[in-house]
Amino acid sequence: MESHELGYFTEENSAEVVAGRNANAKDARVKQVMEIVTRHLHAAIKEIEPTQEEWMEGIQFLTKTGHKCDDWRQEFILLSDVLGVSMLVDAINSRRPKGASENTVLGPFHVGDAPEYEMGTDICLDQKGEPMVVRGRITDIDGKPVEGAKIDVWQANDEGFYDVQQKGIQPDFNLRGVFHTGADGTYWFRAVRPKHYSIPDDGPVGALLYALGRHPYRPAHLHFIVSKDGYDEVTTHIFDPEDPYIHSDSVFGVKESLIAEFKPVDQPEKVQEMGYEDKYWDVEFDFVLAPK
Ligand code: BEZ
Ligand code: FE
Repeated sequence: MESHELGYFTEENSAEVVAGRNANAKDARVKQVMEIVTRHLHAAIKEIEPTQEEWMEGIQFLTKTGHKCDDWRQEFILLSDVLGVSMLVDAINSRRPKGASENTVLGPFHVGDAPEYEMGTDICLDQKGEPMVVRGRITDIDGKPVEGAKIDVWQANDEGFYDVQQKGIQPDFNLRGVFHTGADGTYWFRAVRPKHYSIPDDGPVGALLYALGRHPYRPAHLHFIVSKDGYDEVTTHIFDPEDPYIHSDSVFGVKESLIAEFKPVDQPEKVQEMGYEDKYWDVEFDFVLAPK
């Protein structure tokens, strides 16, 4: 018998000894996952060769991460976000044919019961910020308009805060809403130009970012969930390419296909036609749904 089969632990055979102990696992998937995690974790420890003090620091980091979690704050998801793991899991689970809209991270600020609006409604309820019109088309992969698609949109305000982060300061449901497309598949609504913001950085994940010389900012974006029965649901953002953090999103959410153009419109007749007093921003972005 080889030493790992006897259960004797050495530095060399450590991963095999541990994985071998799971031979009678009840769930084959759990067994497979733990075999892979054990193999990679042991390889990492062998490469790092931590001191006992360093290992304790790692344990304390995870302990603080757990202690920071409550019903509202999920520090482990934030850790997964800044390590790029959330985006990787999302990419694996949303592989789509070429031409279909791409996914990105959901983030923690979506609410399930946002109000439903008619097309053209202003989702900014406090009139703060630079006016913006967002418009486009929802089509299938062959370019045919998708009727009855649900567009669930939410965004931060012009200071980089979501309504749920500023209860009592912003009106409830500020800058969020649900729209449904008609027969032509088009959508449009009014909002305000969003601003970049920091992910929560007052916990262990923020401390880790600063220790790594990283900033906690996300470039300005609007979140969308676009869905319709029979199609793969798209959870995504559109991004402002002029944002200073567009190439260094702290959670790696930016994809080239999700970059929109924020065009300033200041021709008096266009401004007047849209009912604004001064200039506004025009953002056109189409979504393409892949069959399920
Ligand atoms: C967001 O875009 O809302 C977000 C995503 C990941 C972490 C924090 C916020
Ligand atoms: Fe966001």
